[in-house]
Amino acid sequence: MIKQGDCIELMKEVPDGSVDLVATDPPYCVGVSSNGLKSSFTDFNLMRPFFEELFNQWRRVLKVGGHVYCCTDWRTYPFLYPIMLRFLSVKNVIVWEHMLMRPGNWYRGSYELIMFAINGEGKRQFGGGERDVWQIKNGAVASIAKRKHPSQKPIELMTRMIKNSTREGEVVLDCFMGSGSTGVACVNTGRQFIGFELDERFYEIAEQRIDKAVAEREQSLF
Ligand SMILES: C[S@@+](CC[C@H](N)C(=O)[O-])C[C@H]1O[C@@H](n2cnc3c(N)ncnc32)[C@H](O)[C@@H]1O
Repeated sequence: MIKQGDCIELMKEVPDGSVDLVATDPPYCVGVSSNGLKSSFTDFNLMRPFFEELFNQWRRVLKVGGHVYCCTDWRTYPFLYPIMLRFLSVKNVIVWEHMLMRPGNWYRGSYELIMFAINGEGKRQFGGGERDVWQIKNGAVASIAKRKHPSQKPIELMTRMIKNSTREGEVVLDCFMGSGSTGVACVNTGRQFIGFELDERFYEIAEQRIDKAVAEREQSLF
């Protein structure tokens, strides 16, 4: 099920304890205030009530022991960490080394962060040898021409979260679908998907990508 609109509103339709995994990529709030205008980093405080409600809703909809992967960057992480800690059991931050070098003068960026948390306490589902540094190429996402969204995540990255933290048939929630990468990864791995996206244009792109993935999977099964 995917819907266009504000995830805070739409999450109210998701029943308590019905989700096995949250795998999502919220806006990084870098230089943007809550009213969507370009601003300074100090405006993080304007975003606080939004994230408090977001994490509160994740705790409500997740099954006890359900996992959370929340993509972020080095600027946003110190802001999100104390807020998330009030609602979820934050276990680690995964470094995703995307094997690209971003433009810049002060050490060129080649990683992003993924906060990993559990609703309450739960059993580990992935192997004990799993490291917290993931080297996953950005692949097609590296090419601006092929990119469907400015911050599109590779399917392989979302697939790793999904396979590590759910079984086939379980329910994955992405509140900020963008171009629908998490949805495509869910279709490919046989998981159920709930996705929300505010922007109409990105919603349509996500819908098209997910529909295409469904058609390709159906074809591959027959
Ligand atoms: C970082 S992007 C996600 C990109 C995605 N991971 C992909 O692979 O394309 C975040 C998305 O969240 C959407 N968004 C921002 N605020 C939202 C809200 N309140 N509810 C739902 N979506 C929202 C933005 O429109 C944007 O497309």
